Amino acid sequence: MNILTLTTEGKARIALSEGLQDIVEGGGYGRILGLGQAVADVQDDEPIIGDEATEFSREAELNPWRYQSFVRTACALVREAGLQAPFIIDMGCGPAILSSMIAKEIPTAQVMGIDLSEDMLAIASSTARTFGVADRLNLHRHDMRLVAGGASRLADLVVSRNMLHRVEGLSDALYKLVSAAKPNGGMVCLAAFRQVSDLNPKGQAAFVSAVRARSGYENLERAFVRAYISAPSFIQYRQAALAVANRLDVADMQVRAGKNNNVVVFFRR
Ligand SMILES: C[S@@+](CC[C@H](N)C(=O)[O-])C[C@H]1O[C@@H](n2cnc3c(N)ncnc32)[C@H](O)[C@@H]1O
Repeated sequence: MNILTLTTEGKARIALSEGLQDIVEGGGYGRILGLGQAVADVQDDEPIIGDEATEFSREAELNPWRYQSFVRTACALVREAGLQAPFIIDMGCGPAILSSMIAKEIPTAQVMGIDLSEDMLAIASSTARTFGVADRLNLHRHDMRLVAGGASRLADLVVSRNMLHRVEGLSDALYKLVSAAKPNGGMVCLAAFRQVSDLNPKGQAAFVSAVRARSGYENLERAFVRAYISAPSFIQYRQAALAVANRLDVADMQVRAGKNNNVVVFFRR
């Protein structure tokens, strides 16, 4: 526990709750991850590849319910905007469960999934076929930071789930997400990760149970701990959204903290 005390400085007291201690020490993450370094230096902005991609996708496929509220939100935004044939981009689509569920729910939608990881995109192709939406879900390997602003076709709706916390340069990445939406279009992204030092005891309990729920998926468990350690705080998400609102012409902007350490950012162009 020295490690957290040293590297999170004044914020360590919050992190020293029983639950977090259990995760860090009981789960052996200090040893596995070399947390001393990880807490101070970790950058989680890499594509998810190899075993981590396989485990992520396998575990996510078994829990499609996690995507349902996001799918409902996306469908409601499309309906409210009166869009008959929406073009939707999913940034950091991973195994494309979200993209496929949205495509299935909106049979007139064209969906584009973008991810940095070849491994994820291979899984995404198979997901699209399983959902029977492969003809309307186009998958591309790109860094969203490069593609978004210069997308050849801007989206009616940009969605992104659990990618933003990984990307270096939070405000610029958010700017790119919002820029990929056309005038009157929308952008909604969800990040289920907040900086550990930002969590109250309820948030810490959610962190602990999120990691425990992935027990048996060794790479995924580690990735979850890493993600929480390197994720932005709620204030940082909000500051990034305010910075974007200052740079772009936007009609509406909301940043909300929800259950299970979720942060939702919404923009209307
Ligand atoms: C935690 S996964 C979430 C996947 C998917 N959105 C979901 O919720 O199931 C994050 C994904 O973002 C991708 N990613 C990370 N940085 C990226 C970037 N700069 N551009 C595109 N994809 C990125 C990773 O490869 C990974 O597939």
